[in-house]
Amino acid sequence: MIEKPHLPFNSNDLMPFISEETIDFHYGKHHLGYYNKLIGMLKDRPDLANMNLIDLIRHSHGRDDMVGIFNNAAQIYNHSLFWDSLSVSPQKCCSTAAKLIQDSFGDLDHFKKEFSSAAAGLFGSGWVWLVKNSAGKLEIITTQNAKTPITNPTLTPLLVLDVWEHAYYIDHRNNRPQFIEDFVDHMINWDNVCKILGKVCH
Ligand SMILES: [Fe+2]
Repeated sequence: MIEKPHLPFNSNDLMPFISEETIDFHYGKHHLGYYNKLIGMLKDRPDLANMNLIDLIRHSHGRDDMVGIFNNAAQIYNHSLFWDSLSVSPQKCCSTAAKLIQDSFGDLDHFKKEFSSAAAGLFGSGWVWLVKNSAGKLEIITTQNAKTPITNPTLTPLLVLDVWEHAYYIDHRNNRPQFIEDFVDHMINWDNVCKILGKVCH
């Protein structure tokens, strides 16, 4: 059973960094568009009807006969984590997350530089992720199109930035670097990173 994704804030809550128009299009047309397409596809697949979203993504991953189901299911998950990765007010990197960042990247500035560089260097449409690996270290990875690290059970996605053009084109045209800078400097939801880690942010 796939639940309809929701937006965890109001469309104008991220201004001035992301406009109400961008959020309305991004959530209302793109994110819900993936959901509606998937629900339509599943009407012909009663065998998949009881799967939750993550199971469906993993089940369809890499299968030539399920490309459409994978793409739409993965985009639902990716966008939901993206909304949860955005804070409506600036947050300091809490000590729990800061310790992990320090162990993996040296310090917060190095993390921001590496994350921004990965986001700027991703060719075409895709996603930039902060994940925790099975050794407990954090890694920055990128995926193209709908690809998602949730297909890899050894990785725990903590944070994601959508760098498809639809995420920033209304506000910034082709200026992806500005969108990236706004994200890393003003919008990272560290509380949500701690929540996924199962820890209290302090
Ligand atoms: Fe998107």
